[in-house]
Amino acid sequence: MSSGTYSLNDDLERVLYSREAIAERVTGLGQKIEQEYRGRNPLVLGVLKGCFPFLADLVRSMDVLMEVEFITLSSYGDETQSSGTVRTVTGLSREVQNRDVIVVEDIVDTGRTLSHLVKMLKDQRAASVRIATLLDKAANRVADVEVAYSCFDCPDAFVVGYGLDYAGRYRNLPLIGVLKPEIYG
Ligand code: IMP
Repeated sequence: MSSGTYSLNDDLERVLYSREAIAERVTGLGQKIEQEYRGRNPLVLGVLKGCFPFLADLVRSMDVLMEVEFITLSSYGDETQSSGTVRTVTGLSREVQNRDVIVVEDIVDTGRTLSHLVKMLKDQRAASVRIATLLDKAANRVADVEVAYSCFDCPDAFVVGYGLDYAGRYRNLPLIGVLKPEIYG
């Protein structure tokens, strides 16, 4: 770490999705969502912290009126396995009643975080709730969630970059890669 030649890439076992591949998929997804939400003034709800690069790129490829909000939920702590309990760390500051909500998430893994959030939004009488995720790690799913939009299917490995972290780090990596197990082992 102290060496001047250190690169974040050195901590990766392999690269899964390059910067260019991500840009192409995210832009394509934004255009698709744009078609479906034109004239509906959606409320785009980002799940912090991991959503930030994905949400920023996604909404800038959508030429529609929208509002953007954020919520902070926590289920992981600093572990690489889900704790199974979801906490709302920072809640919503805007009414969701009668709104078409698009939840933007970095990765759907067990699905517990989003099943909790979707239930909360439905309880608050959102008109509709759809999930847009960068990565869908379907192999680990335990909760029932419907993923409407996804950029990539993710293998069953611990991945970092483009918003995804390990212990708060690697979110600024512009690509997505599999972390070397010795980093968290
Ligand atoms: P779920 O509730 O199990 O679906 O977990 C979703 C959250 O777990 C995501 O928002 C991430 O913060 C975290 N997560 C799940 N898999 C990974 C991974 O491979 N790398 C980094 N974070 C992950």
